[in-house]
Amino acid sequence: MITIHDKTFSPFISRDDIENRIAELAAQINSDYEGRSPLFIVVLNGAFLFASELVKNIPLSCEITFVRLSSYTATESTGKVRQIIGLEEKLTNRDVIIIEDIVDTGLTMHQLLLQIHALKPLSVEIATLLHKPEAIKKPVDLRYVGFEIPNRFVVGYGLDYDGVGRNLNALYVLPE
Ligand code: XMP
Ligand code: MG
Repeated sequence: MITIHDKTFSPFISRDDIENRIAELAAQINSDYEGRSPLFIVVLNGAFLFASELVKNIPLSCEITFVRLSSYTATESTGKVRQIIGLEEKLTNRDVIIIEDIVDTGLTMHQLLLQIHALKPLSVEIATLLHKPEAIKKPVDLRYVGFEIPNRFVVGYGLDYDGVGRNLNALYVLPE
């Protein structure tokens, strides 16, 4: 058990299970992108640990860049999505792989995809550590998914509860 602010979370997915699964995703990406040079777009803040573990297992020639956007307040999705901040790379003729921590309602990813497609990349795929299929409101095509999880709030491994918990090396879940 771990307490953050006013809430107590239970252990959910261990560091070993997360890192083994990320190695599997990396192997898939290595084989899918053999001979190509993808551009990874990491969605900050939540995806920073997932991204670093993923790309360490990807020996392809690639580029990694970072964007910020946020749609979340505390434990509920607001549905309000801000513009991409910080993308300076040209995406024309690039194979883009978006790296995200979690796809919950899908609203954030849907908005981000619209903005990225407008920049005319050659291809766009999504790698997300977590996906909550029961929460989805805007279905998006997720090529690489670490874990499908129930519709419960999780923290750790990059994900926060009101700013705290991102540094936890495993995932924790809020009991129902
Ligand atoms: P949507 O609903 O737009 O949400 O798919 C995506 C963003 O919301 C955050 N999010 C969470 N953050 N624990 C968190 O710490 C959760 O269980 C959770 N669910 C969604 C996350 O930032 C994601 O990018
Ligand atoms: Mg968050």
